[in-house]
Amino acid sequence: MLSHRTFASVTRHLGRLFGHLSRDLGIDLGTANTLVHVKGRGIMLREPSVVAVDSSTGEVLSVGEDAKRMVGRTPTQIRAVQPLRDGVIADFDTTEAMLQHFIDKVLTHRFWEHPRVVIGVPSGITEVERRAVEEAARRAGAWDALVIDEPMAAAIGAGLPVAEPVGSMVVDVGGGTTEVAVISLGGICTERSVRVAGEEMDEAIATYVRHELNLYIGETTAEQIKINIGSAFPLPEEQEMMIRGKDLVSGLPKSIPLTSQQVREAIREPLGVIVELVKETLDETPPELAADVMNRGIVLAGGVALLRGLDQLISAETDVPVYVAEDPLTAVVIGTAHYLEELDGFPMRR
Ligand SMILES: Nc1ncnc2c1ncn2[C@@H]1O[C@H](COP(=O)(O)OP(=O)(O)OP(=O)(O)O)[C@@H](O)[C@H]1O
Ligand SMILES: [Mg+2]
Repeated sequence: MLSHRTFASVTRHLGRLFGHLSRDLGIDLGTANTLVHVKGRGIMLREPSVVAVDSSTGEVLSVGEDAKRMVGRTPTQIRAVQPLRDGVIADFDTTEAMLQHFIDKVLTHRFWEHPRVVIGVPSGITEVERRAVEEAARRAGAWDALVIDEPMAAAIGAGLPVAEPVGSMVVDVGGGTTEVAVISLGGICTERSVRVAGEEMDEAIATYVRHELNLYIGETTAEQIKINIGSAFPLPEEQEMMIRGKDLVSGLPKSIPLTSQQVREAIREPLGVIVELVKETLDETPPELAADVMNRGIVLAGGVALLRGLDQLISAETDVPVYVAEDPLTAVVIGTAHYLEELDGFPMRR
């Protein structure tokens, strides 16, 4: 019979062995999208954070891309859930099912692969939720799992010198949350977040179109409008597109033109909230670090960093130069991968 201690030591050694054989995973568990980076292979998965659930049985029917296609098109007994709506874990069981599904999808030898996993999560989630996400990753086959704050991961991924004694500011505008952080010497010095980001803009567009143009459109159409002709600052050439929805009066399908000026007007409020958050964070930042940020500029990450003119708007409102990260949609997952590299050969918790 193996003693308890011997058994623990054997499993630890086996874990190390398998840990070395399997590839580390970096995961961006976002409100809108989940990305998985596999060491040595790159970003192997990029899917919407959506789960389709049968509401009568609670059974998970599909996850990711397949589930997103069902949003707004599901029969009544099937619900398409965004388990991390608004940047917090709204539904823990579906978050776990989704994480499990995505980890399974990238592991080729499920049985003996037990990778180390670093997961970027919204900084607004509670300590209990953090532990729960780590536990979920372990149950999904991770040898060890660690969560890190999304803005820290975004800053690392955007190539900011996070370990140096200079202040770097990152603004991550994702689907559900906007997070602003000033980082220096490997830690977050000032941080603010708000549950206003891309999805709130989609809702604002749908509300505007309903109130001003009497047309009913769904979330997916509103998001398309934002991506196609949305902007935060006047465009050199304003644009127009035809949008399709349901006429509120007749109830029939109808197409009408919408201009980029109208879309800007529609998202004025959420844009204002984001600008205010950046200003407040700058205000709260100690003077030396704030001076660094003013000299070195602010870096934008997250999908909404791609909204045209967001850099110009923030710069005009704060008088600080603003840059968009090279690939804002992958900054967090790349950051988790770099973080894992730094941990190579070290235990996950220091
Ligand atoms: N070209 C674009 N222009 C404007 N918005 C865009 C563009 N591309 C993507 N987005 C928006 O970016 C958001 C998703 O960004 P991202 O993938 O960074 O979010 P997330 O990490 O899942 O969310 P969070 O960080 O809040 O948890 C969506 O609202 C999407 O509509
Ligand atoms: Mg994100």
